[in-house]
Amino acid sequence: MGGFKKKILCIGAGYVGGITMAVIADKCPDYRVALVDIDHEKIDKWNSDNLPIYEPGLDEIVKRRRGKNLFFVKEMGKAIEEADIIFVSVNTPTKMFGAGAGMAADLQYWEKTAREIKKYARSDKVIVEKSTLPVKTADAMERILSAENKKVHFEVISNPEFLAEGSAIRDLEEPDRILIGYKDTPAGKRARDDIVELYAHWVPKKRIITSNIWSSELSKLVANAFLAQRVSSINSITPLCEKTEADISEVARAVGMDSRIGNRFLNASVGFGGSCFKKDILNLVYICRYYGLNEVADYWEGVVRINEYQKERFVARMMDVMFHTLANKRICLFGFAFKANTSDTRESAAIYIAKRLIEEKAALVITDPKALENAKKDLAGDNAKVEYIEDPYLASKGCDAIAIMTEWDIYKELDYEKIYASMRKPAFIFDGRNILDHKRLFEIGFNVYPIGMPGLVHFS
Ligand SMILES: NC(=O)c1ccc[n+]([C@@H]2O[C@H](COP(=O)([O-])OP(=O)(O)OC[C@H]3O[C@@H](n4cnc5c(N)ncnc54)[C@H](O)[C@@H]3O)[C@@H](O)[C@H]2O)c1
Repeated sequence: MGGFKKKILCIGAGYVGGITMAVIADKCPDYRVALVDIDHEKIDKWNSDNLPIYEPGLDEIVKRRRGKNLFFVKEMGKAIEEADIIFVSVNTPTKMFGAGAGMAADLQYWEKTAREIKKYARSDKVIVEKSTLPVKTADAMERILSAENKKVHFEVISNPEFLAEGSAIRDLEEPDRILIGYKDTPAGKRARDDIVELYAHWVPKKRIITSNIWSSELSKLVANAFLAQRVSSINSITPLCEKTEADISEVARAVGMDSRIGNRFLNASVGFGGSCFKKDILNLVYICRYYGLNEVADYWEGVVRINEYQKERFVARMMDVMFHTLANKRICLFGFAFKANTSDTRESAAIYIAKRLIEEKAALVITDPKALENAKKDLAGDNAKVEYIEDPYLASKGCDAIAIMTEWDIYKELDYEKIYASMRKPAFIFDGRNILDHKRLFEIGFNVYPIGMPGLVHFS
């Protein structure tokens, strides 16, 4: 295909690859952007009106660029051969077997990709690590790529992605920073300049920062560890608030107004989810243990431990206040996505809560505006015991309790008088996101249990 200044390929058309490349295509009409994935059904969806993921603003961009300079393709060999720059955005989940099981990153998809690139490349390529990877992965990548050298030069660059699902398009269009890690060699510097040039199409130069490649790989793990740590830090104070009649929202406001601390990411909740936080911290913990840094590993592992504790505490509190049994009680989960404005349910706290409630023999109803399909997959083994109903009024009808799992705006605006009237009494609300007007719900008749503040209860 002629007429384009550069040809970009992204291997892995998931959340990160799909959204990032759509924005790059939108901002760089002079570049041809292609995506390839081993999951051909996913590629078909990207080429249809029913995209494989929900992300606000994504449909419009894909419609605008698809077939012009944005292409979703199935043929890996041709796509690799044509590309000047190859982003790799395959999944790097926690390894579930062998050495490092439950902690280390599973790099099998990553390695397979490196081998594919080596197999099909006929000319020099810049390879960009977009996936989140353990520090020093670029070395392994380079070793695979340069084994039996075919006189093709591969230069590996680290360019971790900091987008957050739900606000991904804005995060990409107006990023806090773009980080480009490179090796300090002439070829490394040339590759760095290629990637800077790409982002400079829309990102101010002062927000494009470069560093050594290992700092770049490690920065992504550390950024996620810090974000998750803020959630666990505030959540760790919630049981203390519940015991002492302090109110976590008042504590968070007072603490967050300190400009050294800042007010973001201080919302107490049922616990963090998402495909990244837990996996990336565990990866960091594993790397620390590998280097014998056990104290450091223990410190960061505590962030994950508090998150598990917070989820179990939520279920324990439900049991405790609903007369020590949930058997045959009808409980409606409001939301299943790991956060608002996404269909993604990976590692959602709702999965853990749902499974525990099923274990306690509760009858579950799940409602969510975008994530019911994923919820069904997550609870595949238990689907016989779960109902999925998109309308929250119908979903909560006849229930004993509602548990807010996701902070969707629509849940703030429901007619809770109507909902209360349709529920079994006594009716309970457990606000796992502290998004509702608790006093008002109490006045309607609910027994209300927010996170990190005393319950509002009609019986003593
Ligand atoms: N989701 C996020 O919010 C987020 C944010 C920043 C960074 N990341 C990182 O980005 C990476 C990708 O995450 P994601 O959420 O997009 O995952 P994802 O599972 O949505 O997408 C990964 C895609 O790669 C494809 N794939 C796997 N092996 C392949 C191969 N050999 N060839 C071609 N395609 C292959 C899979 O089929 C899948 O479609 C991960 O390392 C993740 O940690 C994710």
